[in-house]
Amino acid sequence: MDQRVAFVTGAASGLGRSIAGRLASDGLHVVVADITGDASAVVVEEIVAAGGSAEWVHCDVGDIDSVRVAAEQVVSTRGGVDVLVNNAGFDIPGFFLESDPRDWDAIVRVVMMGTLNCTYVLAPSVAERCRASGYGRIVNIASDAGRVGSMGEAAYSAAKGGVIAFSKSMARELARDRVTVNAVCPGPAETPMTDRIRQAPLGAKLMGQMEQVTPLKRLADPAEVAAIVAYFVSYEAGFTTGQTVSISGGLSMHG
Ligand SMILES: NC(=O)c1ccc[n+]([C@@H]2O[C@H](COP(=O)([O-])OP(=O)(O)OC[C@H]3O[C@@H](n4cnc5c(N)ncnc54)[C@H](O)[C@@H]3O)[C@@H](O)[C@H]2O)c1
Repeated sequence: MDQRVAFVTGAASGLGRSIAGRLASDGLHVVVADITGDASAVVVEEIVAAGGSAEWVHCDVGDIDSVRVAAEQVVSTRGGVDVLVNNAGFDIPGFFLESDPRDWDAIVRVVMMGTLNCTYVLAPSVAERCRASGYGRIVNIASDAGRVGSMGEAAYSAAKGGVIAFSKSMARELARDRVTVNAVCPGPAETPMTDRIRQAPLGAKLMGQMEQVTPLKRLADPAEVAAIVAYFVSYEAGFTTGQTVSISGGLSMHG
């Protein structure tokens, strides 16, 4: 089989950066699909310096035409995509009844519509390659906020809950092509996103409380999230689909 190609959205920072590095070290060519050019270039340099293979494509996941242009670029140079990781996302913390409805639009546009857009545009390539090779993977980065709710993150939780339900539905629809679709739910992780949340008064309070009530008493290292993504992407995970896994230091425990 040719080198597998992974399209990782939001790979210029935080969890996406760690996921990109991990998949590259596992031998995949990584497409760093992000709106931010400079930070993406740094990630590509890191991967290449470590002996891996990567490229940046500009992609605004909230804009389906932008996703189409990015996908065409990758399909024309690489022939297709084997792995899609829908990771791009952000939050604007605050109490829902005090929030600005324009903020909900911005969150839903990237977190939920971004996942739908990228799946709509790229899953046909993943499925086509998988019908030939038997290998195709989609991993959606959701959040424990989408499983159990989160105070100060209502619109974000709604969007992430949508991502989880969407993952299960797509796992059913794409099973005929043998593509697996799974959702990863990080609890709070040490990334630039959480640094920004800490800067808001409510955010700082919530992050402190979350650390206190987490049985393992810390936030996740992005590499720990990347390791679960790498498992879902691995050949060994071929019979695992429609699943949702939390990586939260025990903050949430599901039966
Ligand atoms: N950090 C956490 O504690 C945590 C917890 C649960 C879930 N998550 C989820 O993990 C994912 C990554 O979060 P992070 O903490 O690494 O965030 P981050 O802010 O460090 O990185 C997000 C990346 O997404 C990119 N991005 C933003 N909007 C985009 C768009 N429209 N199109 C393409 N790229 C875009 C940014 O440029 C950035 O590179 C998000 O979906 C987030 O909701 C994070």
